[in-house]
Amino acid sequence: MGAKITQLAHAVPTKIVTNNDLSQIMDTTDEWIRSRTGITQRHIATTETTASLCTQVAIQLLQQAALPATALDFIVVCTMSPDYFTPATAAVVQGAIGATNAFAYDLNAACSGFVYGLNAVQHYFQNDQPMHGLLIGGEVLSRLLNWQDRSTAVLFGDGAAGVLLENSSTAHFLASDLATFGDRGGQLTAGYQGSAPLMVNGINQMAPYFKMDGRGIYSFATRGVPASIERALEKADLTCAQVDHFILHQANTRIITQVAKRLRQPLAKFPQNMAAYGNTSAASIPILLDECVRAGQIKPGAVLALSGFGGGLTVGTQIIIY
Ligand code: ACO
Repeated sequence: MGAKITQLAHAVPTKIVTNNDLSQIMDTTDEWIRSRTGITQRHIATTETTASLCTQVAIQLLQQAALPATALDFIVVCTMSPDYFTPATAAVVQGAIGATNAFAYDLNAACSGFVYGLNAVQHYFQNDQPMHGLLIGGEVLSRLLNWQDRSTAVLFGDGAAGVLLENSSTAHFLASDLATFGDRGGQLTAGYQGSAPLMVNGINQMAPYFKMDGRGIYSFATRGVPASIERALEKADLTCAQVDHFILHQANTRIITQVAKRLRQPLAKFPQNMAAYGNTSAASIPILLDECVRAGQIKPGAVLALSGFGGGLTVGTQIIIY
């Protein structure tokens, strides 16, 4: 017995903000953003929240499967931008859809979140009990952006996507690799709460906005992602050539080109959609996976390497047969 992805869905805010829109409010250009990142637009939440987007995804997944919410055993939401510290986003979703038999919790591994989530939830499928669960990546990163800081504001977007997982008698989850580099955590931070209560020294130490060493993260990703993919493939006893599609975290097209080069694989095996969404952190891998499956680009039986990197710093890969 093991886990299998049986449904995919995504939901994004209705408001679209283009690079040209951003050039009206900060010192940037469409040309700079496109050439440095591959991004042309992003969806930005107005009334939507992380929990409301994840709830839309959950409802869609259940409708597609014609499954009642009470059939769910768990809901896990991967996010670094939850509505609350508590309740967890997953608990809000559980309450909203009436999944009364499901336990629910959030998992935060930033942009590696969905891959870390796949690694965690597959263990719930190791006995003969029928099991149904939702794994959703959802973010409203726009709340963590300083719209005066062009070095980060142009990069991110909001959205959610997820999968329904069910038991399978055949192996679909082949191997994974997770690695964390906490000593480099300062290279990408958001939502710092401060070390002393305001009432003690009167100084507000909270730093809600993204701070990022862009070049440091670039170099971490271009080396760390290929290494993680290779470690996971070795555990699965597979080679890069046997992978049909590399579904990478969608942060920057130049990072993906570098990863493809290092792995000596054709870029055509690395689908990309950051042009339309920007970097949606934990949502980026499942949004891309859903789009590729709906477009018929990924077919049942395809070997996939899902790989994410980001805050923590974290990196992770999951090898699956779709
Ligand atoms: N518009 C115009 N100019 C800009 C902008 C902008 N939006 N942002 C920066 N610049 C300028 C800089 O000020 C700098 O100008 P200067 O040369 O006069 O000093 C110049 O452009 C070059 O800036 P760099 O930061 O060196 O640009 P770089 O080529 O490194 O690209 C980028 C920056 C896109 C951030 C790149 O480093 C990158 O993609 N890094 C990876 C980041 C990433 O993936 N982060 C997400 C991790 S996932 C997670 O966990 C959330």
